[in-house]
Amino acid sequence: MQAINIGILGLGTVGSGVIKLIKDHQKKISGITGRQLVIKRAVVHNPDKKRNVDLSGITVTTDINDLINDPDIQIVVEVMGTVEIAKDYIERLLRAGKHIITANKDLIAIHGSQLAELADKNHCDLFYEASVAGGIPILRTIVSSFAADRIIEVKGIVNGTTNYILTQMSQNNVSFNEALKSAQKLGFAEADPTNDVAGIDAAYKMIILTQFAFGMNVTLTDIKTTGIQKIELADIKQAEELGYKIKLLGIAKLIDKRISVSVGPVLIPASQPLAAVQNENNAVLVTGAAVGETMFYGPGAGELPTANSVLSDIIAVTKDIVMKTTGSRFNEFSQEGKTASKEN
Ligand code: NDP
Ligand code: HSE
Repeated sequence: MQAINIGILGLGTVGSGVIKLIKDHQKKISGITGRQLVIKRAVVHNPDKKRNVDLSGITVTTDINDLINDPDIQIVVEVMGTVEIAKDYIERLLRAGKHIITANKDLIAIHGSQLAELADKNHCDLFYEASVAGGIPILRTIVSSFAADRIIEVKGIVNGTTNYILTQMSQNNVSFNEALKSAQKLGFAEADPTNDVAGIDAAYKMIILTQFAFGMNVTLTDIKTTGIQKIELADIKQAEELGYKIKLLGIAKLIDKRISVSVGPVLIPASQPLAAVQNENNAVLVTGAAVGETMFYGPGAGELPTANSVLSDIIAVTKDIVMKTTGSRFNEFSQEGKTASKEN
């Protein structure tokens, strides 16, 4: 079977998850795409770091040129974070004709349109399902399942770290700082968690959701953003005594053909489904004029859930590559595809 060679930028929480999932589900993926996925090279900050993942067969370097100049690499997965360095790397990779998959919401929220234009110009895919709500396939759902509807509102819990902190404070009476440390240990928080707790990570995700749901570009300065830093255990307990839960909500809605986007802590009646979303889980409510209110729920952060979203993009790009090179789709329901899927 032919291979698709992949480069990866970053071997932290998400990057390790991507490697594990490819290794664990190789046969199933081959059955779906008709190609074997091979992670050929990885670029990291510190190549000598001991990592909790099997890197056999992968060349680990610090030099982005090793990916850019490798003609065998067709897809690059960016899971290192940062804005300006990632932008520079991705621009150079796109110019070299590599398809890009990223989980980097900061980058996409700030430079997404510009990068999409460059990707188009170079006939490359630029996919970023993992950038919003971790393991929930919300972007693809909005694009495909709401294509014929008119979305009126998108709102929800889109940051796993803050929901984890609020849940731990409420259920286990732990302090804000203790809960944050635990979220960092579990791999939910950003390398610098300031954006998580200040609501900025959620605002970046709302920028991307607003683009997908309403086709409108908003920036951070358009979004009234409040974090959870000032919420104390006493606030949470008082809210609960009155029958409410405190949740950090992102809300984007159409008001008289204009879009209003905000992020902040909200009191939610305990009986509502959003109030029951605990720990790192996220939930996104999409309201369409035709369909009414729908809710999408699942893990919003973490190694394997996020890696699963990255893999869904890798599979979509691989299918595109197969389509472009062979002129036809690999038939995953053919005997070959079915046999490979069953083996896994
Ligand atoms: P980590 O901090 O765990 O890992 C980052 C990786 O990138 C590390 O391997 C690091 O190298 C490498 N790296 C960082 N800076 C550079 C650089 N300048 N050059 C080369 N390599 C670099 O991050 P995560 O895996 O948690 O997150 C990665 C991305 O995914 C971020 O954009 C994040 O916002 C996004 N994301 C994360 C989720 C999560 O649950 N963690 C969920 C959804 C999205 P080294 O290991 O050598 O230090
Ligand atoms: N730090 C982010 C969060 C990771 O906690 O939601 C997922 O985007």
